[in-house]
Amino acid sequence: PSTATTAGRCPFTSATPAPALSPTGCPVSARAAAFDPFAPSYQQDPAATLRWAREEEPVFYSPELGYWVVTRYEDVKAVFRDNLLFSPSIALEKITPASPEVMAILQGYGFAMNRTMVNEDEPEHMARRRLLTDAFLPERLMRYEPAIRQLARQYMDRFIDKGRADLVAEMFYEIPLTIALHFLGVPDEGAEQLRQFAVAHTLNTWGRPTPEEQQAIAHNVGRFWQTAQNILDGMMAQPDGEGWMYESIRQHHLHPEVVTLSYLRSMMMAILAAAHETTSNATANAFMTLLTQRESWEAICAQPALIPNAVEECLRVAGSIVAWRRRATRETQLGGVTIPQDGKLLLVQASANFDPTHFEDPDRVDLYRENAVEHLTFGYGAHQCMGKNIGRMQMRVFLEEFVRRLPHLRLVQPQTFDFLSNTSFRGPSALWVEWEPQHNPERQAGATLTPLADFQVGPPPKDGLARTVRVLAKHTEGEQLHRFVLAPVGPGRLPHWTAGSHVDLIAGGFRRKYSLCGGTEHPGCYEVVVQREAEGRGGSRYFCDTLQVGDTLQLAGPKNLFRLDESAGRHILVAAGIGITPILAMADRLRSLGLSYELHYAGRSRQHMAWLSRVQRDHADRLRLHIKAEGQRMDLAQLLSAVDADTRVYACGPDRLIAQLEALAEHWHEGTLRFEHFSAEATALDPEKEHAFVAELQDSGLRVEVPRHQTLLQALQAAGVDVPCDCGEGLCGTCEVNVLSGDIDHRDKVLTKSERQANQRMMACCSRAVGQRIVLAL
Ligand code: HEM
Ligand code: FES
Repeated sequence: PSTATTAGRCPFTSATPAPALSPTGCPVSARAAAFDPFAPSYQQDPAATLRWAREEEPVFYSPELGYWVVTRYEDVKAVFRDNLLFSPSIALEKITPASPEVMAILQGYGFAMNRTMVNEDEPEHMARRRLLTDAFLPERLMRYEPAIRQLARQYMDRFIDKGRADLVAEMFYEIPLTIALHFLGVPDEGAEQLRQFAVAHTLNTWGRPTPEEQQAIAHNVGRFWQTAQNILDGMMAQPDGEGWMYESIRQHHLHPEVVTLSYLRSMMMAILAAAHETTSNATANAFMTLLTQRESWEAICAQPALIPNAVEECLRVAGSIVAWRRRATRETQLGGVTIPQDGKLLLVQASANFDPTHFEDPDRVDLYRENAVEHLTFGYGAHQCMGKNIGRMQMRVFLEEFVRRLPHLRLVQPQTFDFLSNTSFRGPSALWVEWEPQHNPERQAGATLTPLADFQVGPPPKDGLARTVRVLAKHTEGEQLHRFVLAPVGPGRLPHWTAGSHVDLIAGGFRRKYSLCGGTEHPGCYEVVVQREAEGRGGSRYFCDTLQVGDTLQLAGPKNLFRLDESAGRHILVAAGIGITPILAMADRLRSLGLSYELHYAGRSRQHMAWLSRVQRDHADRLRLHIKAEGQRMDLAQLLSAVDADTRVYACGPDRLIAQLEALAEHWHEGTLRFEHFSAEATALDPEKEHAFVAELQDSGLRVEVPRHQTLLQALQAAGVDVPCDCGEGLCGTCEVNVLSGDIDHRDKVLTKSERQANQRMMACCSRAVGQRIVLAL
């Protein structure tokens, strides 16, 4: 057998001595064999350490761990998404097996850690999660915000005049613990004891301690267990208190077979790590990230409205959970590799979060990144972190208070950061910062408990994430066609982008999407071509007529919903009119890679064909022009007569062109045709023309009314169901939900014709039910 990679190459090259074999009998590559998640270099930068794997061997077997390591975004998400095929049962298993001595020590303490929530299989898990979810709804969480802010300000008062502090020891370790205990309802007297044991639990579950260390740790884990049980017993004796553990106890009395006693006992210990260290570490990581990239810190000081997205971007680039575990319940394929039944998977979220096929310019900290919220640090799917909005809220409030009171804060330099050696929890053990106390804008805490801006509990809002750019140059590129070169305002460059990306330009009350299509002449800048549509809705007229060199405007993105599959053997690029812009970027990319492509460019006349001179200059040998005025109409059936499974056809142009291609593509291999729509105007909701319907959610047992003035997505979100959303207009596929019954009225531009006919998937942001009722797998 061979270990396939997505590039189709076996990473194993003849080596002496003979390499280790994976459980499926495949030789393990040298780099896979060398992978050590406990090494200090890995702890420093897990994403960089696994770059080779993302690029060449995205799923590999680690003999050191006995796990299959999964490193790419789509694969990690696919595993999280399917919790039947990939069971979470091993999430809290000791990654370093316990010796008999350790087992004996733990037994001596009556240690009986069992299934909680995070490692429970279906159907038990969902039944339990449903009963215990209310406390996490955004409106219920709002009440914690004043307490978090008050604590933040009190802790800052203690050091604000000192000029120097270790933020981990003096603030970030303590406050999330206090808030976690408060949220759970744990009485204060229990808190002090629990504090001492948290590290032992992390090392016991995710660390690689030596046999001697294991014994000392086991004693602390045992004491932690006993303390937690004593506290729980006290709470169960008086079960009418406030807090999530009390709610769980009450649900246990109502539904003892769902919220079992064993669950309560295990959860009492597990939830502390889940709620406390995750948030402490994530906060320390966020400050470390923003202060290391000073311009990011200064950006949130200048524009506090960026803070919620800064939280999300920091969770992406420096999440506090770097890897999580699943077990394959049967043999399956993942990333081109066979995973045997019972194969254990280490899903490295820290690597997935840097996958360039999902995040543009992933190594850059970009506070304006629109899809930062799609990071996998909170997991995904049925087990996605229930406490994510508590974590987010704390991080946001801490940033707000530092921006308000210590904006000139800086890292003590030089400083190296140490991380606890384990596979999953990551945060610096200390974070030293310094400042000049006399420069503090607010030295004494007043009674200020107001947020810096009107922030919501939950994921960051999508609007307001636009950066300011300047028109560096404006060129006429044909009849009614203007090419703009856009430069950053201030130092630095705009984020790198990949072929197929687009940006939103925002000016004069208009917001429009344009593909990026620049060459190499203006590094760090963006180029777009705008076609002035005399009969349009006014946006393109405004951009072409009003914007001049030197003017500033807002820009959101870049974002790529039209990715080039560089692994295909043959590429056929088809563009009509202004549709050339993303296609030109693809042609540039394919040429620079030396890959095979042909480029078809259709237009009414040469004057109507954008940037024709450059297309001809750079792609003459691959180009065929189809110019109507010169009698050369594009005959798609003839051009595309020999499309095989290794061919990809990319197209951008008017709806008519796309419809013709879709008809031809019915006979092609699924996924051969890829096209882009820019405007999904048909998706705008007109309540006059809609009817209300009901969405029944099979997994969560909810019945959600969707009124005529709301989208399905809005109704689901209002009911507390997490469905991610990106474009909000049927273009990107992020909000896809699975449909079990009921006909779908598809309004998106994502699904192919055959996918629509299958009636199994729908985009919740725009599509609706044909009838009165639809049943969703949610
Ligand atoms: C589950 C991360 C904060 C409660 C999880 C999972 C991750 C995670 C990776 C597993 C997801 C999966 O299997 O798909 C984080 C991070 C946090 C954080 C990075 C902070 C930044 C919190 C807080 C609480 C909490 C504050 C509670 C107050 C839970 C619970 C689950 C969970 C109950 C289990 C959900 C289930 O299995 O259905 N968290 N967490 N977390 N988290 Fe968090
Ligand atoms: Fe993009 Fe719905 S959010 S298709």
